[in-house]
Amino acid sequence: MATTYKLLLLPGDGIGIETMAEVERLIAFFNKKSNKARFETQSDLVGGSAYDKHGVSITDEAMKKALATDAVMFGAVGGPQWDKVPYEHRPEAGLLRLRKDLDLFANLRPAICYPALADASALKRELVEGLDIMIVRELTGGTYFGEPKEIVTLENGEKRGVDTTVYTTREIDRIAKVAFDLARRRRNLVHQAAKWNVMKTGVLWRDVVTATHKAYAPDVRLEHILADNCAMQLLRNPKQFDVVLTDNLFGDILSDEAAMMTGSLGMLPSASLGAPDAKTGRRKAMYEPVHGSAPDIAGKGLANPIATIASFAMALRYSFDLGSEADKVETAIASVLDKGLRTGDIMQPGMTKVGTTEMGKAILDELTRLTA
Ligand code: IPM
Ligand code: MG
Repeated sequence: MATTYKLLLLPGDGIGIETMAEVERLIAFFNKKSNKARFETQSDLVGGSAYDKHGVSITDEAMKKALATDAVMFGAVGGPQWDKVPYEHRPEAGLLRLRKDLDLFANLRPAICYPALADASALKRELVEGLDIMIVRELTGGTYFGEPKEIVTLENGEKRGVDTTVYTTREIDRIAKVAFDLARRRRNLVHQAAKWNVMKTGVLWRDVVTATHKAYAPDVRLEHILADNCAMQLLRNPKQFDVVLTDNLFGDILSDEAAMMTGSLGMLPSASLGAPDAKTGRRKAMYEPVHGSAPDIAGKGLANPIATIASFAMALRYSFDLGSEADKVETAIASVLDKGLRTGDIMQPGMTKVGTTEMGKAILDELTRLTA
């Protein structure tokens, strides 16, 4: 008997809509072919498209669906047409509400360089070939959510903007455990990146991660690295890293940097996970590409669907216990790249340029072949 899972699709804006359509093709494939799992999908709006229809970047109704589902697949949000929308309704607010209300504190951002793409990287082939880093970004605390967060007018008429970086022991401890657990299944190394030389939260991060390491994971190698040095080392010698554990803001920046080393932002998936449920052991989860809505190419069929498809592979692995199916999707991506198919963002001389749908179909064909 196949297990039935509920999936909420939130394609959002811009290229999110096009790349999610390719994931729907994959879902239909598994529903037809797999005897292990069946996916029931629902869809809703988020971001600018939700604002245009409902005046908010995500409705309470969509939030209810997200809370009730087994996993959320998220596309991308934003675009210049919403630049003037009130701050609390800007497209990104919908994404941040999902992260916060589902308590998705653990953001896993793998940066893997497919061999076929080593020359598309801004770095030299020998630096990135075989690269396999996992950035573990804390996602529900720090500068993104700390209060006060405001712009106030001072008595002299000048304005003052304030963001607040706050972390508690519990918040750091739980994300550190996720990083150590992942490292054990990889190369057993965690770099904790923070600014303990300037920030009190940095001091706390270093202390708590050290204590958690001692109590929970003394078998894993732990290194502390200043976040700015980490940014530099990622360019100098990226393969020295295995798992990079860091806060919300540094994680945002370091993961864009790591993504670019793999050839294109269009390649990088992510998983955002909550704590395991006390009864079922299941984690709330949302899967999304690291790239944004790319308004410049939206609606033209040019977007690279690989990051969104690879995010679905992460959903298979982390939410549905379908690790071997996830491996197959990833193998299918790699072999389509080996065959020379490229979307514009990863195009190289001598390769075959394809659009979003062609790339999605080619991956599906390869998957069909691997599954036969
Ligand atoms: C990301 C994005 C988001 C973030 C934006 C869209 C709010 O850059 O997921 O990395 O800053 O977290
Ligand atoms: Mg970002």
